[in-house]
Amino acid sequence: MKPLQNDTFLRALLKEPTEYTPIWMMRQAGRYLPEYKATRTRAGSFLDLCKNTELATEVTIQPLERFDLDAAILFSDILTVPDAMGLGLYFAEGEGPRFEHPLQNEADIRALAVPNMEKLSYVFDAVRSIRRALDGRVPLIGFSGSPFTLACYMVEGGSSKEFRTIKTMMYSRPDLLHRILDINAQAVTAYLNAQIAAGAQAVQIFDTWGGVLSDVAFAEFSLQYLRQIVAGLTREADGRRVPVIVFVKGGGLWLEQMAGIGADALGLDWTCNIGQARARVGQYVALQGNFDPMALFGSPEAIEAEAARILADYGQGCGHVFNLGHGINQHANPEHAKILVDTVHQLSREYHSNLDNNYN
Ligand code: CP3
Repeated sequence: MKPLQNDTFLRALLKEPTEYTPIWMMRQAGRYLPEYKATRTRAGSFLDLCKNTELATEVTIQPLERFDLDAAILFSDILTVPDAMGLGLYFAEGEGPRFEHPLQNEADIRALAVPNMEKLSYVFDAVRSIRRALDGRVPLIGFSGSPFTLACYMVEGGSSKEFRTIKTMMYSRPDLLHRILDINAQAVTAYLNAQIAAGAQAVQIFDTWGGVLSDVAFAEFSLQYLRQIVAGLTREADGRRVPVIVFVKGGGLWLEQMAGIGADALGLDWTCNIGQARARVGQYVALQGNFDPMALFGSPEAIEAEAARILADYGQGCGHVFNLGHGINQHANPEHAKILVDTVHQLSREYHSNLDNNYN
């Protein structure tokens, strides 16, 4: 395997100087790409696609063939972990993810255990295969869900608008929720470490639903477990640091607390100003984000202007990885995604030409 040819993304996560601002897009492999849909049809279903090493590798590489991205992300899903715990993940057409055996009572929760990582060997096989296919082109990101976000699906049985079931548990039997979260945190730590051992060069933890919690509940039921995971991760592989990114959707109010858990970078959704976020925590962590994915539905000029605005708000110097504030929408126009990637590369050079690159 060739040595890494483009490590801009890894350097930015460590706040080291770069020539431009690197970019990747959350959910960059997915249904907005016609070639993804074709491969998924060949695989049979989304889960078959995740479990097929060759096809999972193919869809991971697809967005890199179209766009000049600075990182690849493993093609898989956060819900593979509860699936390996025996909850029976399936996708009902048009309904999103569902579990055959959600955690419905105390006995279900008492029986829950950290799964044998052997059950997830298809994920680690995919990591190894993708690394071979990338052949040093860009780094590969591994990922998992946060303990709280996974628990939302495990308790609700699928996607939710109100989170009534899990919040009922949180306010009536916090001990049971803590038990789930503790097992999830142990499972996620082992799962991410196995991805790193298989070749993941950075990892991102998605806390998609942390933002639905109150301030106090976020600290107790999400942040504490994120901290536990970060403390247990392998931080160096092949002589290089493996950066950790924590993304909490709706977490803009808690940046200071999140910056203190040991992650290298925080992912931002589009609701906060990245310049203000930098002023608050840029001393401690790199920042990733935070283009509103829906802004890809604007005109090319509007996309360029919004990318320019975010780059200007972040300002001179290192420590910014450009990304969307959440996953790309399935109806987004791939041509517009290309405009965003190219604009960020072109416009960001001026922010990295300054001699005083490392002032933050
Ligand atoms: O970023 C990437 O390209 C890597 C792949 C990736 C997927 N899911 C593939 C996927 C990643 C990083 C995820 C993470 C994930 N999965 C999250 C956290 C990030 C976020 O978006 O908030 C969550 C909450 C899930 C759970 C999940 N998986 C949902 C809610 C859904 C259905 C809704 C939807 O957006 O499609 C999925 C299915 C899923 N995961 C698809 C893909 C490409 C679509 C499945 C299909 O092809 O039909």
